[in-house]
Amino acid sequence: MPESPADRPSDHQDVTPEAWSGVHRGPLREGEWVRLVDGKGRRHNIALEAGKRFFSNRGHVEHDEMIGREEGFTVTASTGGEYLVFRPLLSEFVVSMPRGAAVVYPKDAAQIVAMADIFPGADVVEAGVGSGALTCSLLRAVGPHGTVTSYERREEFADVARQNVRQFFGGDHPAWQLRLGDLAEELPASGARCDRIILDMLAPWECLDAAADALRPGGIVCAYVATTTQLSRFTETVRVHGGFTDPQAWESLVRDWHVEGLAVRPGHKMIGHTAFLVTARRMAPGQKAPMKKRRPAPGAYGADYTGPRPADVPLDLPPDVYVDEP
Ligand SMILES: C[S@@+](CC[C@H](N)C(=O)[O-])C[C@H]1O[C@@H](n2cnc3c(N)ncnc32)[C@H](O)[C@@H]1O
Repeated sequence: MPESPADRPSDHQDVTPEAWSGVHRGPLREGEWVRLVDGKGRRHNIALEAGKRFFSNRGHVEHDEMIGREEGFTVTASTGGEYLVFRPLLSEFVVSMPRGAAVVYPKDAAQIVAMADIFPGADVVEAGVGSGALTCSLLRAVGPHGTVTSYERREEFADVARQNVRQFFGGDHPAWQLRLGDLAEELPASGARCDRIILDMLAPWECLDAAADALRPGGIVCAYVATTTQLSRFTETVRVHGGFTDPQAWESLVRDWHVEGLAVRPGHKMIGHTAFLVTARRMAPGQKAPMKKRRPAPGAYGADYTGPRPADVPLDLPPDVYVDEP
């Protein structure tokens, strides 16, 4: 007769530390972080310490009640309320960790990892590091045999990021270097080459030349920008540079669904906007990508347009007489 899951012996084997995953398995150990969620969805992240108590408006829970147990259980606080106990996932950690600057949300970090094609062993550069949320996803994706070099202009944000990344991975990830300074100055000075560059900052166009010089042919630049004006300026700057393929721009919207019996419908609330993403691939030195033969939408680059102007768009022709080059 097959064993019921409850009878199965516990698998005490932790994830190998050499993987630098930030994940543990097996019984909860002292020093580890756990997430307690009450019936109303309120979350508390705590580091387990023998002999300590966690206090809330529901009374207290002894840490000793949790240490040594397999995650995925409930504990009852001294006044009766129940808490669900799990180790936090990366997507949960980054939205609850201390913040210096706004973070890249998990839905967008997932898009960046997939669409900027972050791979094990890749050399990735990012700026700014902010609170280190995206850094954790990048490090996860490149693994211990890749590199992530993060630039940050503000020391106080770099300090917050260092603490967060260290906490998530349980130490100093061997693939990570955090550099204080402006990417536009520091990256060229370092002479480093890389496969992918992710720009999450107010003015990513100021870093485009540095990114283009550092990227290997076939590499990808990816910008994460909050507003349409930033999106436009970055995209047109990439076109004007000429050393990249025509940029792709998009945003992702994620909507939860309520699924209960016959009541299956979209959730009432969603995050309406986080940011836009733009990617383009680096051409080989001296090579130009054939830009799409396009007739700009009427007024796209008309008299009101003051941004960077792609080379194939004439300066003074009104849009209605614009003619594609043969
Ligand atoms: C929105 S935050 C980045 C958030 C981060 N990606 C995260 O997920 O936690 C933007 C950061 O970029 C930094 N920054 C802006 N321009 C920069 C530049 N040229 N070089 C380095 N850092 C820069 C800012 O100081 C700020 O901390």
